Amino acid sequence: MAGKLTVITGPMYSGKTTELLSFVEIYRLGRKEVAVFKPEIDNRYHSTMIVSHSGDGVEAFAIKKSKEILEYIDQKTKGVFIDEVQFFDTELFDVVKELLDKGIDVFCAGLDLTHKQNPFETTSLLLSLADTVIKKKAVCHRCGEYNATLTLKIAGGEEEIDVGGQEKYIAVCRNCYNTLKG
Ligand code: ADP
Ligand code: TMP
Ligand code: MG
Ligand code: ZN
Repeated sequence: MAGKLTVITGPMYSGKTTELLSFVEIYRLGRKEVAVFKPEIDNRYHSTMIVSHSGDGVEAFAIKKSKEILEYIDQKTKGVFIDEVQFFDTELFDVVKELLDKGIDVFCAGLDLTHKQNPFETTSLLLSLADTVIKKKAVCHRCGEYNATLTLKIAGGEEEIDVGGQEKYIAVCRNCYNTLKG
């Protein structure tokens, strides 16, 4: 049977990584073999672990190109988990299709929008392929409501590819984004 794709998306701090890790746990509890990946560029907390903003983590393969995923899977692999998909090349779309056709379930987590509200292309492609989309919200840094759908960059320049955390980015609702942008 073909696998299913679940995409977890939303702004920073919305719990995407936490939710991805909870699916890893579900597969491990079911004694299903998993393979976990992250892009090599994301070295925020650890080079070979996926770590959430609250500090939980699992071991992951840090890879440069989407195609490398295929080297790590075998007949026994039941679930593939990929964090920070916005940083992967667009070939991830074809790699994921290949995994689904092999009967492997795929879980992807990543940002939908840059801090300038431009779509991250690889995430957009995966959203179009998803069987299930989980759209997360964060608590707005300015108004305190649980309605933040955007990420605002508060330091470090204008670049849209720029690894970082609370020193550079906050989660905000649309009203507060517009207010803070002036
Ligand atoms: P993501 O991968 O979406 O950035 P994580 O799963 O790594 O999110 O982190 C989620 C955790 O971040 C929450 O459980 C909470 O402890 C913490 N956190 C920090 N700032 C916020 C915020 N503004 N809104 C919600 N959670 C936040
Ligand atoms: P997170 O969603 O797990 O918090 O991680 C998002 C990563 O993406 C983090 O390293 C910051 C980075 N990022 C960018 O490179 N460009 C952006 O526009 C935004 C919003 C985040
Ligand atoms: Mg994350
Ligand atoms: Zn707000």
